[in-house]
Amino acid sequence: MKAVILVGGKATRLLPLTRHTPKSMVPVLNIPFLEHVIRHLGSHQVKEIVLAQGHLSQPIEDYFGDGSRFDVKLHYAVEDTPRGTGGAVKNAAGHLDDTFLVLNGDVFTDLDITGMVAFHRERQAKATIALTPVEDPTAYGLVETETDGRVVRFLEKPSWDEVLQRKTNMINAGTYILEPDILAQIPPEREVSIERETFQQLLAQEEPMYAYSSSAYWLDMGTPERYLQLHRDILDGKCPRCALAPDMKVVIEKPGNVHPAVRLEPPVVIGANCSIGEGVRLVGPVVIGAGSTILEDSLIENCIIWRNARLGPRVRLKDSILADNCRFGADTIGEGVVVGDNVTVLSGIKLEPGSKIEPGTTIG
Ligand code: GTP
Repeated sequence: MKAVILVGGKATRLLPLTRHTPKSMVPVLNIPFLEHVIRHLGSHQVKEIVLAQGHLSQPIEDYFGDGSRFDVKLHYAVEDTPRGTGGAVKNAAGHLDDTFLVLNGDVFTDLDITGMVAFHRERQAKATIALTPVEDPTAYGLVETETDGRVVRFLEKPSWDEVLQRKTNMINAGTYILEPDILAQIPPEREVSIERETFQQLLAQEEPMYAYSSSAYWLDMGTPERYLQLHRDILDGKCPRCALAPDMKVVIEKPGNVHPAVRLEPPVVIGANCSIGEGVRLVGPVVIGAGSTILEDSLIENCIIWRNARLGPRVRLKDSILADNCRFGADTIGEGVVVGDNVTVLSGIKLEPGSKIEPGTTIG
């Protein structure tokens, strides 16, 4: 079975991290998010994938190429203007002639795709939508079903009253199996939302639409808070597919230059060729990208730092995310900051807590 992965959104909620980096190339445990998704598909024998692209397409093609490095065959369908989730699938139609999967490119999940395909086939569904329970469904699309799983109603961003009335917290998890004749229903050359338009149409036509409910690990990593949460979850072993082995709570990908007098409080992942100076304390979850240098006596706690950072000495960083090539001088302090690529912070600066710093900025 082929899959379409939607990777063309603007990722505004992850700005400034995504000013120059597509959301699907944002690193998770030092490899692009999309690589995790492609490997998950491959493990369920989905080996032919169309990447539905728009905004910032080139970095994805440069990294993934024809897919052979990942044991899959990749095609690219690039939109000249954003077509929305449904329009993006329509734009990929030339590659689709049989039952196919669609995945939101920002969902990290352990979903049993093989089981979902079997479920779709058994019910002879026109469309099957994966559902997942969430504590607060009001920011998502609630899906109401019959006891046999048939979809009866979609409620986009429901109020708490509606959630309580419907007695469900199952939301659209952003993974679908669709029959190819649905493609004819999606109008060409314009923006279409698959959730709000195409699925509502199928429901109105009384087509067999089913929901595949699952409690597999699921997270939409579209905000900085959830991006940090994703790392916490994976490193805490909540997503079995990616859990580090219990005895590997500190991972140093390639021995760089880690001073013997550092304190690594797990979980900590240090990328290839990093230099970690004397007296540095890393309080996990912490992930440090390849080629980074953390100078002596710095304290880094609950942070994701991308490649080629140079921080310290005596930097204090907490609950923060730094994109590629950031330079923080001596004694800088940051808490809850989200920093774009190539940012320089001069020595002795205390950043405004929670601030977002655009790529290329120099502060101080
Ligand atoms: P925000 O701007 O932060 O809402 O992020 P987003 O642009 O990614 O939007 P959203 O999270 O709603 O998108 C869900 C998935 O659909 C993501 O994987 C997006 O990349 C993808 N997506 C959204 N709009 C488009 C589009 O117009 N074209 C394509 N190809 N993909 C899209």
